[in-house]
Amino acid sequence: MSGTGVTGKVGQAARGGKLATADSTAAPRIQVEGITYQYRPARGRSVVALQDVSLAVGSQEFVALLGPSGCGKSTLLYLIGGFLPIEAGSITVAGKPVTGPGPDRGIVFQHFALFPWKTVMGNVLYGLERQGLPREQRRRQAKTFIEMVGLGGFEDSYPAQLSGGMKQRAAIARTLAFDPDILLMDEPFGALDAQTRSLIQAELLAIWAKTRKTVIFVTHDVQEAVYLAQRVVVMSARPGTVKAVVSTDFDKDDKALLRAPQFTAKVDEIWRLVHDEALKVHSGKTR
Ligand SMILES: Nc1ncnc2c1ncn2[C@@H]1O[C@H](COP(=O)(O)OP(=O)(O)O)[C@@H](O)[C@H]1O
Ligand SMILES: [Mg+2]
Repeated sequence: MSGTGVTGKVGQAARGGKLATADSTAAPRIQVEGITYQYRPARGRSVVALQDVSLAVGSQEFVALLGPSGCGKSTLLYLIGGFLPIEAGSITVAGKPVTGPGPDRGIVFQHFALFPWKTVMGNVLYGLERQGLPREQRRRQAKTFIEMVGLGGFEDSYPAQLSGGMKQRAAIARTLAFDPDILLMDEPFGALDAQTRSLIQAELLAIWAKTRKTVIFVTHDVQEAVYLAQRVVVMSARPGTVKAVVSTDFDKDDKALLRAPQFTAKVDEIWRLVHDEALKVHSGKTR
């Protein structure tokens, strides 16, 4: 385990070559440099959502973005996903500037975006269509993903017949079917009850162990971030900046991890960082 407390801003860590990746000499998969983003709605006030954010994420790395509500977590994810225009700063994926959405980046939202008129199988098959596989192979592949997320037996169910947790699993299976190198997840388990959530978290870790995708996982739940990620990026209150980057590279296979003293100490440490920021939001001390 390399959990060594707060390691400073990711930009610095990256420049110092201390990226927590499987191969630390590899160039980062995702490089965010000096991103500032301002919303300018036609009505209402302009909001600087992000201010000079730099972040490097390695291949196969699992990073959590954590911070108080409104600090720009979703904005940063959408910028990486190519859903918002980059105005100041740069974002590259595998060395190429992001100019729009692409099949290399799959996104999973809090509110599952399944086609209600398609079955679980139909939804997952949709993700596979792009790859031009023969029909039989497509069905086999789809079944593999459905089983991977624990939905075996529900291939013919429609979204309306599934619980929230099952819908979110189906949405993850569909995103996996596109086979993106990068999974961008925006509070995907936020709407689930505690039990379902802990089951699906364990499943996500198992999927990550199998597929080794690069994952950026947005959450405002400290325990979730520490449990899932290898590094947690703590963001400040609006305008969002990177406040700290904390290594959370625990042995996720350890069944007793959630009760281990080093785990709970890490949760406390990060909780304090986030709490300070949340207080600023509450007392209106943000710009
Ligand atoms: N479409 C929008 N138009 C104007 N302001 C927005 C819009 N979306 C988000 N914002 C503002 O940008 C800030 C960051 O939003 P967001 O990225 O959704 O935060 P988070 O995901 O951390 O809760 C918020 O404080 C919000 O006021
Ligand atoms: Mg959000």
